[in-house]
Amino acid sequence: MEQTLRRSLLFTPGLRTDRFAKALSGGADMVCIDLEDGVAPDFKNEARDKAIPALFDASLGGTGGGSAARAMRINPIKTQLGMRDMLALGDYGTAPPALLLPKIESAEDVRWVAELLDEAAYPETRLMVIIETGRALEAALDIAGASARIDTLLFGAADLSAELGSSLDWEALHYARGRAVHAASSAGLDLIDVPSLDIKDEEGLRREAHLAQRMGFTGKAAIHPVQIAPINEVFSPSAETIDFARRVIAAYEASDAGVALLDGKVVEMPVVRAMRRALAIADKIAAGSAQ
Ligand code: GLV
Ligand code: MG
Repeated sequence: MEQTLRRSLLFTPGLRTDRFAKALSGGADMVCIDLEDGVAPDFKNEARDKAIPALFDASLGGTGGGSAARAMRINPIKTQLGMRDMLALGDYGTAPPALLLPKIESAEDVRWVAELLDEAAYPETRLMVIIETGRALEAALDIAGASARIDTLLFGAADLSAELGSSLDWEALHYARGRAVHAASSAGLDLIDVPSLDIKDEEGLRREAHLAQRMGFTGKAAIHPVQIAPINEVFSPSAETIDFARRVIAAYEASDAGVALLDGKVVEMPVVRAMRRALAIADKIAAGSAQ
């Protein structure tokens, strides 16, 4: 079973490598150094120069380098900045663990990045793709299946709503989120929702995280470490869910008819699949805390 948990992804600005160190030990499942919208245009080169060595610096994040998985959001691949980011990563000579690709518009865009990584002999680099353009939304299913390197989609509500001319409200983007869920789940990928921008509003964050979780999202991004604990909690199966899941699976496995009865309710294969998924997440959490 793949061991990476992807409930929370904390963005940290590329120029501020001091914050990267802190972010790594703040409990996020993933920390993503941002070279794109978190860096002002005049500082792009400086940010790249600082952030790439930091991405590989095992001494950041305390002993063991922090437990979070590391990623880097490069600039859009079809721009000069994005190409410079890719070239600099290639020249560095060490495979980045994961790249987050913004403004992707087609499966072909992803395949191009995958080919550049092949050429750099970085077979281990994983890809995460942001669905945040109208074209990406249309092609989401193709994009999700574009490369075996992809393990995660991210729903980029900020850019998408700007392009659609919609507000950022939950209701306004319901169709778009639904499409992202459809694409990610069809390809067996994790799906991370956009960060909530009001870092003081924990209740709002929890509400949005719950809504996303109910739709099929597997995690949510964050822009501040205070958002991590609530996000991890919402996207972790509760003790009751784990207990129920174990009982469902035991009842199902004990019956030979393909249908079981638990607490007076019929248990069929779809319920078992959902419960197996919950247990898989619980197992990953347990494996992570046992390390
Ligand atoms: C993320 O990149 C967004 O645009 O929401
Ligand atoms: Mg964006």
